Amino acid sequence: MSALPATRLPVVAIVGATGAVGVELIRCLEQRRFPLKELRLFASARSAGKTLPFAGAQLPVRELDEESFTGVDVALFSAGGGTSRRYAPLAVRAGATVVDNSSAFRMDPKVPLVVPEINPQALRGHGGIIANPNCCAIISITPLWPIHRAHRIERLQMATYQAASGAGAAAMEELRESTRAYLEGREYANKVLPHPYAFNLFSHNTRVDPDNGYNEEELKVIQETRKIFDDAQIRVSATCVRVPVLRAHAMAITFECAAPISPARVRALLAAAPGVKLVDDPERNYFPMPKDASGRDPILVGRIRQDLSDPSGRSISLFVAGDQLLKGAALNAVQIAELL
Ligand SMILES: NC(=O)c1ccc[n+]([C@@H]2O[C@H](COP(=O)([O-])OP(=O)(O)OC[C@H]3O[C@@H](n4cnc5c(N)ncnc54)[C@H](OP(=O)(O)O)[C@@H]3O)[C@@H](O)[C@H]2O)c1
Repeated sequence: MSALPATRLPVVAIVGATGAVGVELIRCLEQRRFPLKELRLFASARSAGKTLPFAGAQLPVRELDEESFTGVDVALFSAGGGTSRRYAPLAVRAGATVVDNSSAFRMDPKVPLVVPEINPQALRGHGGIIANPNCCAIISITPLWPIHRAHRIERLQMATYQAASGAGAAAMEELRESTRAYLEGREYANKVLPHPYAFNLFSHNTRVDPDNGYNEEELKVIQETRKIFDDAQIRVSATCVRVPVLRAHAMAITFECAAPISPARVRALLAAAPGVKLVDDPERNYFPMPKDASGRDPILVGRIRQDLSDPSGRSISLFVAGDQLLKGAALNAVQIAELL
């Protein structure tokens, strides 16, 4: 509960309230008892007239327009890059501080890109817009931060196993529908993702850069890691893959430090790391799984082992799973709003 008097509590708006991230933003505000005077929900004209539950009431969803931000103090955007580019500057002009989930402003040098466990200081002196990082970036590097700080990670390689939820509510529905059709022996024409999704996996559905062969998701992870760690030297590579999991991303990560490091040291650092939970039980072969990460705040980390391909002893491999609708999107955005 807030210690602020009611007159100083903020009016909060969610843009994209009906989406996969939007409904989690509403839930996070409620569960964390975010101190607010009023919550206003916006989406496209398609959703005008719907209601969504918040704190025991049904709140109306309104169509977003240029007047939507009058009287709004904090605006949480999760309605795609185009909507953010058009409306976030209007929200700032109306006096609101924007926390944006899209990629529209992330690499703008004037816009802080923030993971509260890593770089809360980047919020200082913001110009009205704060960017929430890419979901894979948040989930992979939040556990790596304490290791980087103590032992300097020089190189980082990862392969991702990304769930349907990362592509929004319609992609989750496509996974459900196409799986049902597959099991019933029916044809299914995919509408959201570019390839058959049931019992299949494919390279991430973003454009591949013909010059370097990386897709947009992989390039986001590379660039955003450097910006959040404030380390232009760290070498990062990623292979991003969409897998037929409904919710929560997983990643296989190998990193190389400046000097030799042991799995025991990594385990000790992660045991004390905020926002992280160790799930590392070789005897039971029990390690992080999307099933266990779904609907939960912490990022699960396990399979911590020395990388045997590096005889110098400087490399460690591990496996993570995290709910990218929560820590990878809504929860991180609400944590930023709490800091504000
Ligand atoms: N899913 C993730 O894990 C994740 C993680 C990090 C960041 N993000 C980013 O968060 C944003 C939302 O993602 P999502 O997965 O929640 O997508 P989604 O499920 O497709 O939801 C999109 C939301 O945006 C609204 N919207 C679309 N066009 C609009 C417009 N012109 N004006 C106002 N509202 C509009 C939709 O409203 P209607 O229901 O009315 O269409 C809906 O509420 C994207 O920018 C995405 O890149 C997503």
